[in-house]
Amino acid sequence: MKTIVCEQPDQFVLKEMEAPTTGPGQALIKIRRIGICGTDLHAYKGRQPFFSYPRVLGHELSGEILELGSHEGGLQIGDPVVIIPYQHCGSCIACRSGKTNCCTKLDLIGVHSDGGMCEVIAHPTSLLIKAEGISLEQAAIVECLAIGAHAVRRSELQPHVNVLVIGSGPIGLGVMKFAKLAGARVIAMDINEERLAYCARWAPVDETINALNNPLGRLLELTQGELPTVVFDATGNAKSMMDAFQYTAHGGKLVFVGLVKQELTFNDPEFHKREMTLLSSRNATRVDFEKVMQAMADGHIDTDSYITHRCPFDAMIGEFDSWLKPETGVIKAMVEL
Ligand SMILES: NC(=O)c1ccc[n+]([C@@H]2O[C@H](COP(=O)([O-])OP(=O)(O)OC[C@H]3O[C@@H](n4cnc5c(N)ncnc54)[C@H](O)[C@@H]3O)[C@@H](O)[C@H]2O)c1
Ligand SMILES: [Zn+2]
Ligand SMILES: [Zn+2]
Repeated sequence: MKTIVCEQPDQFVLKEMEAPTTGPGQALIKIRRIGICGTDLHAYKGRQPFFSYPRVLGHELSGEILELGSHEGGLQIGDPVVIIPYQHCGSCIACRSGKTNCCTKLDLIGVHSDGGMCEVIAHPTSLLIKAEGISLEQAAIVECLAIGAHAVRRSELQPHVNVLVIGSGPIGLGVMKFAKLAGARVIAMDINEERLAYCARWAPVDETINALNNPLGRLLELTQGELPTVVFDATGNAKSMMDAFQYTAHGGKLVFVGLVKQELTFNDPEFHKREMTLLSSRNATRVDFEKVMQAMADGHIDTDSYITHRCPFDAMIGEFDSWLKPETGVIKAMVEL
């Protein structure tokens, strides 16, 4: 089968590899769509910490079932499926409490082990969800949006509260969408005016703020001096994450969705006087995937404009470099098989 291997930073090779066979509890899936995300771009550029090469990338996947093992879970051969790429152990302290998204032995295919940039994969049947009422293309962006759905669920967001989402990339957009669907008033902050204009149309957020232009003053204005009750940071920028402490209301919550390699510091009096809750949000669980799929099926999510670039599998290697350039206006690129 055809497989695209990231041999080392800056080098993809299209190879002929042996097709997988199923192990216990696994299904064979013909890959049909591969969404490209920041993680893939960083891995390709050699900026992904603890990443080993060669590696088959691709974790935002949809496909069709080719073969099923004994545990069919209501699935049938030929069914279109969303693939949950997070393989968890099922027995660690996190898994035992249902938090499979932060399993101590988490294996994210396409990152920790080989992923879906190939024609067929073998994957646990329990990590497949039948894609009903959504397209294969939509099915491939469920994972990316589930990160936002999970962060919003984790924040226990209440309707009508003021929410700030910092960072309007594909991850921040998902947070904004599910905060809006939860009934919050959403303010988006970024340094990129083009992206701010997009989230005002797409989520649609209620207000936008440029982080380079007196953000604290603007936030105070927009919230009658109270500041947002819940702040999400989805920038992957340490300064933004540290600044976010001062943007949060007294009694409020700060949720780190984006992540950085370095250490973060904060001023304890600013944190303490607010009796603030600080949360991290990692990956997503099946419940979040199902929430995104339902929102798609109900027509709440415009996936056509979110997917900005498309290309066939055989042409991906030639196109990949252009997806690294912000001037191409890329939000989500989609590879088709
Ligand atoms: N929680 C998870 O499980 C999870 C999963 C996937 C990705 N992530 C992380 O989420 C983050 C966002 O991912 P993405 O793909 O949307 O990234 P992205 O780079 O496409 O988007 C980040 C956005 O933040 C904006 N930004 C950067 N610095 C800023 C600042 N100082 N102030 C305001 N805005 C600023 C950028 O202009 C950009 O629009 C990354 O850190 C990524 O690693 C987390
Ligand atoms: Zn991703
Ligand atoms: Zn586990």
